[in-house]
Amino acid sequence: MYSEKMYGYGAKSSIIREIFSYSQARAAVIGKDRIYDYSLGNPSVTAPKEVQEAYRHTLTDMSPLEVHGYTAGPGDMGTRNAIAEDLNERFGTDVTGANIYMTCGAAAALKIAMCALYEEGDELLTLTPFFPEYEVFSESAGYKFKPVTSEYGTFQPDIAKLEEAITEKTKVLLLNSPNNPSGVVYTKEKLKAVARLLQQKTAEYGHQIYIISDEPYRELAYGAEVTFIPKLFRNTIVCYSYSKSLSLPGERIGYVCVQPEMEDADKLYLAVCGAGRALGYVCAPSLAQQVIRQCVKVRPDLQPYIENRNLLYGELTRIGYECIYPDGAFYLCVKAPDGDTERFCEKAKKYDVLMVPGECFAAPGYVRLAYCVDHEMIKRSIPFFEMILEEYRA
Ligand SMILES: Cc1ncc(COP(=O)(O)O)c(C=O)c1O
Repeated sequence: MYSEKMYGYGAKSSIIREIFSYSQARAAVIGKDRIYDYSLGNPSVTAPKEVQEAYRHTLTDMSPLEVHGYTAGPGDMGTRNAIAEDLNERFGTDVTGANIYMTCGAAAALKIAMCALYEEGDELLTLTPFFPEYEVFSESAGYKFKPVTSEYGTFQPDIAKLEEAITEKTKVLLLNSPNNPSGVVYTKEKLKAVARLLQQKTAEYGHQIYIISDEPYRELAYGAEVTFIPKLFRNTIVCYSYSKSLSLPGERIGYVCVQPEMEDADKLYLAVCGAGRALGYVCAPSLAQQVIRQCVKVRPDLQPYIENRNLLYGELTRIGYECIYPDGAFYLCVKAPDGDTERFCEKAKKYDVLMVPGECFAAPGYVRLAYCVDHEMIKRSIPFFEMILEEYRA
């Protein structure tokens, strides 16, 4: 007999993946140019040329053992030191390679961080809207998963609601800014209020509450300041990924950073190593680690995303849709004209416009559009958005 729990995770497949499969099948019938697929957060901008060059150089000039062999479980020390130096330069931290643990992207980083902190009975809070895998990762790690509703219409943290949700069993608050699916960047004031609240609750309950900061979109911000949360709250574990910032989602590369200022930092870091071991990760891909070592200072070209954001947000609001202005990531939340997202997605599907209902992210009433797509596709899709709204008005 198999595990019912794992069967459940496998059988209930992701709606986003289902839409993507539908899109590919439909494209084979009517042609790629007539599908307006806004479902998947797969970066459309290719990896920067420095990254492509580093792959070429690594494969051509480095020894096969360095490129294809195992690294130490926590990763190649040269890579970890390079990441630490870059963090110190940018955020004034005091991190060394010994605080960095290389992972297979943010997904693995999150799961490892959650497992490293978990003790029997712990609860994990996150703010709505959120990346749906949080529920799978945290519940399978043992946590009771508790989403906390954010401020309606801005999707900034609601401090009063967060305070209500924290109990003596709260171990982790999982934050994601810039946010998937809203594109919202949490303001420094809000994050300071969150930090104050967690400090107060830690003192009240006499045990540490941690932040896990999920930062795959850290580099994708279009003017708004992305606060580095460990600077506000010392017991923060950072989970980072190069999937979005360097357009490498299939290479599976990221890291966990346990700040040296954290309580029991050395032991916590070993718990991270233990979680990676227990989960069977062995080590992050060696080729990708070598490339990251050479490219830690490479930042994404934001211009294509800014142009897409401006076009999509500008046109949809001009037509009459209500949208949440995204300061970062590459997602736009659009309100269903009558609040019924299923109906909105079905109407759009008739025109081959594919969107994800916000219920997948605990954002009822909204749909998510991933605008990491071809700019021309956005242009071609606009008349269909007009026709969809006309249908509501008719
Ligand atoms: C908020 C958030 N966290 C984590 C992940 C997982 O990223 P990775 O591909 O690095 O595992 C994603 C991917 O879309 C995401 O949007």
